[in-house]
Amino acid sequence: MTQSAYYGAITGWGQGVPARILTNHDLEQMVDTSDEWITSRTGIRQRHILSEDESNFDIALAASKKALAQAGLEGKDLDLIIVGTCTPDFLFPSTACLLQEALGAENAGAFDLEAACSGFIYALSVGTQFIKTGAYQRILVLGSETVTRFIDFTDRNTCVLFGDGAGAVVLQSTIEKSGLGAFKLGAYGAGGKLLNIPAGGSRTPPTAKTVQERQHFVKMQGSEVFRLAVRAMVDSCVEVLEREGLTIADVDLLIPHQANIRIIEAVGKRLEIDPSKVWINIHNYGNTSSASIPISINEAIESGRLQRGMKLLVTAFGGGMTWASGLIYW
Ligand code: UT7
Repeated sequence: MTQSAYYGAITGWGQGVPARILTNHDLEQMVDTSDEWITSRTGIRQRHILSEDESNFDIALAASKKALAQAGLEGKDLDLIIVGTCTPDFLFPSTACLLQEALGAENAGAFDLEAACSGFIYALSVGTQFIKTGAYQRILVLGSETVTRFIDFTDRNTCVLFGDGAGAVVLQSTIEKSGLGAFKLGAYGAGGKLLNIPAGGSRTPPTAKTVQERQHFVKMQGSEVFRLAVRAMVDSCVEVLEREGLTIADVDLLIPHQANIRIIEAVGKRLEIDPSKVWINIHNYGNTSSASIPISINEAIESGRLQRGMKLLVTAFGGGMTWASGLIYW
């Protein structure tokens, strides 16, 4: 492949997280579960969830405004908006188009990209390609999810796992080596039914019967997903490092998708990375799907953990099934 002269530097970042918090103790009142089970099996202690009057768009907008301010840009400066989401406000218009209006991004194209929990890395890789070709210079990329709106709060297998949140980054064209380097996108459609929402789409449109049967909620075969997630995240990270000519010792920080502390630890162990280099914030947020990596990036910067010049490895796995990993020159 010909080398591009351009890199997509990450010049802005922000998060939008609902103020409302649902603790493990709150969930103990709702289903047959315990703080002890949730903490020991998942690492989650609390999650942020939308209030009734909030939506995906609201938290996406909050994250976007912070990211644009950080980059010193306004909406009208943007060439493109890409929102990784599987829980948009509407089938259409896209959340990206809602943002385009609210940000006054009159010169930007806008679309949503659906790769479930891998959505942010997919969207980052797509945005970066527009910059590498020279087509665009300033792109807003988000992972923004409101999974709790699709959760059955009578199903203890899933309702303890997820939270809502959004994270945004601004990509700007530069000739200095920066931003996303090697990446790997993967998919395993045969495993689609391991994590899905059976009804509500065009195959099984909503009827009173599908609603009564609770088919509009997330269903997951957790242990199968767990096994596949660890293998795919590890293999794709190894491939990315090889393609960059790096070893795991060169990585300053690993931000894995925050779905389960045991998955995070298993991935870290198999990659043989120093545990102090593995980012963990699942205890505060639960699984926020495609938002977990950009929220983590935002927090890692704000806390001083992620600094310019560092090499950041990101990896995710989710419904589809999909997975994605990438090496980011910070
Ligand atoms: O982000 C997209 C990707 N998603 C993931 O990566 C999630 C992957 N999966 C997981 O994180 C884990 O599989 C879970 C956290 C979902 C489940 O953990 P597990 O260790 O795989 O448990 P399990 O599904 O094998 O269930 C063990 C037991 C079952 O009881 P029995 O059948 O052994 O009597 C479950 O009914 O734990 C029970 N259980 C619960 N007990 C208390 C399941 N959920 C709960 C709960 N509270 N909330």
